Amino acid sequence: MVNITVVGVGHVGLVSAAAFARWGHQVVGLDDDPAKVEKLRGGQAWFYEPGLQELLDEVVTGGRLQFTGDAKDALQDAEVVFVCVGTPPMPGGGPNLAFVEAVGRTVVEHASRDLVLVEKSTVPANTGRRLEQVIQRETSRLGNSHRIEVASNPEFLKEGAAVEDTLHPDRVVYGTSSDVSRDALRRVYAPLVEQDGCPVVETDVPTAELIKHASNAFLATRISFINAVAQICERVGADVAVVAEGMGHDVRIGPRFLQAGLGYGGSCFPKDVDAFAHLAKQVGYDFELLEQVARINVGQRDTVIGKLEHELWHLTDKTIAVLGAAFKPGTDDLRESPAIHLAQRLREAGAEVRIYDPVALPNVAIEHPELERHETIEGCLDGAHAAVVATDWDEIKRITPQQYLDKLAYPIVIDGRNVHDPDEMIAAGLRYHSMGRRSVDL
Ligand SMILES: NC(=O)c1ccc[n+]([C@@H]2O[C@H](COP(=O)([O-])OP(=O)(O)OC[C@H]3O[C@@H](n4cnc5c(N)ncnc54)[C@H](O)[C@@H]3O)[C@@H](O)[C@H]2O)c1
Repeated sequence: MVNITVVGVGHVGLVSAAAFARWGHQVVGLDDDPAKVEKLRGGQAWFYEPGLQELLDEVVTGGRLQFTGDAKDALQDAEVVFVCVGTPPMPGGGPNLAFVEAVGRTVVEHASRDLVLVEKSTVPANTGRRLEQVIQRETSRLGNSHRIEVASNPEFLKEGAAVEDTLHPDRVVYGTSSDVSRDALRRVYAPLVEQDGCPVVETDVPTAELIKHASNAFLATRISFINAVAQICERVGADVAVVAEGMGHDVRIGPRFLQAGLGYGGSCFPKDVDAFAHLAKQVGYDFELLEQVARINVGQRDTVIGKLEHELWHLTDKTIAVLGAAFKPGTDDLRESPAIHLAQRLREAGAEVRIYDPVALPNVAIEHPELERHETIEGCLDGAHAAVVATDWDEIKRITPQQYLDKLAYPIVIDGRNVHDPDEMIAAGLRYHSMGRRSVDL
């Protein structure tokens, strides 16, 4: 059993804290947002993630996971401290590491024994060295005699499957600079490795940091690659879904992350692609490929708007039903959501936008009150001039051609996630367009 403190109980920190507790460790979650702490102390998750509430019920009731807003309390007895605070993008492309630095200072102030400070937040390579510098300076300023070692343990969970990914990860990566920190991380992950036989990559700190950026940049590149292929498919009359299927059977390629559509979003891929390109520039390498990956991604939204304009001519005073708000299914997270960006672009073009989402509407109300929210698909479609599929929730995949025909004022559907069958939609009489597949004749 390891005494663990998790700093920042957000999408990564809360799920990680609950998983550590499930593996038998004693865990304290620290957050500087009092509203989140209060909710968590009442046993409630503050965001939606499948299976999270059940896991919390189990570990909070069992007394293995507690929450506090008090850093001194949280760090009392901590042997391993995981930094899970946000690293949001800054205007120049690099991430804002001020929250990570702040945690470093807080930990030195309140450390009551030797401990290992582990970066789980996504940070650029060599952030560990910066953190060591902060720790050294603060340690000598405060006269704290405890030894604090920095390690890196990047997180690879996917929102929408975060609990499953954390309890059964594809791999665990940690980078350490001594036997002490390596052994501490081995003890943290021993229950998982024993139960699951999960592969472990043990390395140094900068390599572990870089594995995370390289992984996310590579996944984003796959998505932009297939989206670029989709553009060609539309122009030559090929079907990108079948192209992807044909490519994916090759074991060197594999089928995942080859779905053409509106592109990636969320709090990670856009920021991490930019941050990796920014780091490359800082160290003297122009990683132009990543700039193109980001450009292709955002361009997919222009493609949807172009299809709408093709059908509707002007968007001014047209009502568009946007189906889906979350950046992907299984989450209520709206950060960098392509659906929200698209809705905003449509409003700027003069359209009236309505939005439906099965779980994210409360967040839409808070973060985008300007968007008209609909609790049902039928209500959202009713009388709209066109519908756009923006998030591939199961509820949206199940909409039938007849439902669109019954409700829409004009029978126009732009399927930004390729969830419907083009033949069926077109045969039913819909003006149906998707991304890189058969559309109605232009
Ligand atoms: N969300 C994901 O899918 C995902 C996956 C892998 C890695 N990551 C990375 O993990 C990190 C966290 O992401 P997230 O999505 O969990 O963010 P989040 O915004 O959901 O959570 C961050 C939490 O940290 C808290 N916080 C900020 N500063 C603090 C401080 N000084 N002391 C205590 N608490 C503080 C915030 O209140 C918030 O609850 C980021 O670097 C992100 O890139 C995220």
